[in-house]
Amino acid sequence: MRIVLIAAISVDGKIAEKKEQSSLDWTSREDVQFFIRKTKELGTVVMGRKTFETIGHALRDRRTIVMTHHIPEQTVPGVEWTNESLSTLVHRLEKEGVASLAVIGGSTVYSEFLNAGLIQELYLTVEPILFGSGVPLASETGRIHLELLETELLGSGSVLFHYQTLSS
Ligand SMILES: NC(=O)c1ccc[n+]([C@@H]2O[C@H](COP(=O)([O-])OP(=O)(O)OC[C@H]3O[C@@H](n4cnc5c(N)ncnc54)[C@H](OP(=O)(O)O)[C@@H]3O)[C@@H](O)[C@H]2O)c1
Repeated sequence: MRIVLIAAISVDGKIAEKKEQSSLDWTSREDVQFFIRKTKELGTVVMGRKTFETIGHALRDRRTIVMTHHIPEQTVPGVEWTNESLSTLVHRLEKEGVASLAVIGGSTVYSEFLNAGLIQELYLTVEPILFGSGVPLASETGRIHLELLETELLGSGSVLFHYQTLSS
């Protein structure tokens, strides 16, 4: 299964100023359009419960999986909750025939997938903004070497970087 990390980051490498913040507060229209197109192409998305709370609903036309340690009693239409480990989740999706998975945050979930060596590609949109402080893309991942595959100017100020991870 192809597993792809997708994130928008500030020039100083943050994915949010504050934990509760929606990315729509500061990312460009062009990045939002890219995010929708790429996640629809990949078909299935996985995110952490805190990121889900900033969105509040399933992503239309995409299988939406939310990781949590505490499955809520109340269902949300279109949302699949999971408390499986990363490897159990990935193996199950593979068995179900899922060909590609978009890992869409936040920091905790990005870090876990990177740490587990499960990410093969990254799409990072660098937005023209500095936060000075905030939520990092990932933490405690150790060194991960990347190969730049392509770049694209999105609109007038945002740059999309597409990387693949290299095995160490
Ligand atoms: N700029 C971007 O592209 C982008 C994208 C996504 C998110 N964000 C930002 O990221 C921030 C949120 O990041 P975050 O690191 O605080 O939270 P997060 O990664 O979205 O969610 C963390 C939560 O996910 C659940 N979780 C994570 N790993 C799990 C595992 N292995 N098993 C079971 N549950 C697991 C836990 O939920 P429970 O506590 O329920 O157990 C955990 O508290 C927000 O500010 C959001 O706006 C930015």
